Amino acid sequence: MDILSGVRFPIDESDRKPLGRTGEELPAIGIGTYGIRDYRAAEEALTHAVELGMNLVDTAEMYDSGRAEELVGRVARRVGRDNIFIVTKLMPNRFVECSETMRAAQASLRRLGLDAVDLVLIHWPNPSVPIHLQVRCLERLVDAGMARYIGVSNFDADQLAEAIISTKRHEIVADQVKYSPLDRRVENRLLAACMEHGVTLQAYTPLERGAVASNTILIKIAQRYGKTPVQVALNYLISRPGVVAIPKTERVERVEEFRGAMGWRLDKADISLIERLF
Ligand SMILES: NC(=O)c1ccc[n+]([C@@H]2O[C@H](COP(=O)([O-])OP(=O)(O)OC[C@H]3O[C@@H](n4cnc5c(N)ncnc54)[C@H](OP(=O)(O)O)[C@@H]3O)[C@@H](O)[C@H]2O)c1
Repeated sequence: MDILSGVRFPIDESDRKPLGRTGEELPAIGIGTYGIRDYRAAEEALTHAVELGMNLVDTAEMYDSGRAEELVGRVARRVGRDNIFIVTKLMPNRFVECSETMRAAQASLRRLGLDAVDLVLIHWPNPSVPIHLQVRCLERLVDAGMARYIGVSNFDADQLAEAIISTKRHEIVADQVKYSPLDRRVENRLLAACMEHGVTLQAYTPLERGAVASNTILIKIAQRYGKTPVQVALNYLISRPGVVAIPKTERVERVEEFRGAMGWRLDKADISLIERLF
């Protein structure tokens, strides 16, 4: 606790965030690909995001039955593979047997048109497989050259701790979880656990599917900065150490809006206002 301001976590002023303890950095804001309606528009929006430096793109094998991965592959070919950091997620039922994990990853890579993704996550924990076995299958993907890094998604603090101690060859670099100013449950334990273990927290549904845009308190705060409530919501999240937000849009103008969430920070007083209100 910051005694002077009441802010619960130290404020991170940087718009580049460490990826776990890899020594690599990610932009504080990347783009998600769930629920795309217009794939042509989305390709333009994602390409624009990468060109603006928001080159972290999140997808999953289950998004639109693989169509989202195909889209990300097209974007990667447009911008150049080395200019984009691609995260994909495999379904928990793929982790019953590592051979099935490998098959699913191969199918994802085929859709993406790539030899390897940058980061592969298990989409949520499989309750019927011990966590150490899920981690073993993730590690195999790196051993096989299909992914550069591994991580988890929707793991709580205890599940994350178990995953971390289960690793033998490759570290867990990220936990992708729901986090927005209107849903701050991760601040109870998980955020501190990520900070302690050097794990990047990827905040999904950071805009509450658009609901932050009409929140009267966020609107009021935004007016003081000449910003939008969406920019305030994203800024709140990236003010946290090790937190990267992955809002989704398929519109170029909203990509621009996301960019405007970086390069400045909310005052401590406004951060603590949000902490106290929601
Ligand atoms: N690991 C997991 O289990 C998990 C779960 C959910 C999501 N995710 C990832 O996280 C990403 C983001 O989460 P999300 O898609 O659930 O929700 P979100 O980013 O909170 O919201 C996306 C929605 O908000 C709209 N939106 C974007 N900018 C806006 C603005 N300025 N004003 C009003 N509405 C706006 C978008 O519409 P437009 O496209 O029309 O702009 C879209 O419908 C996903 O795409 C996915 O990659 C992961």
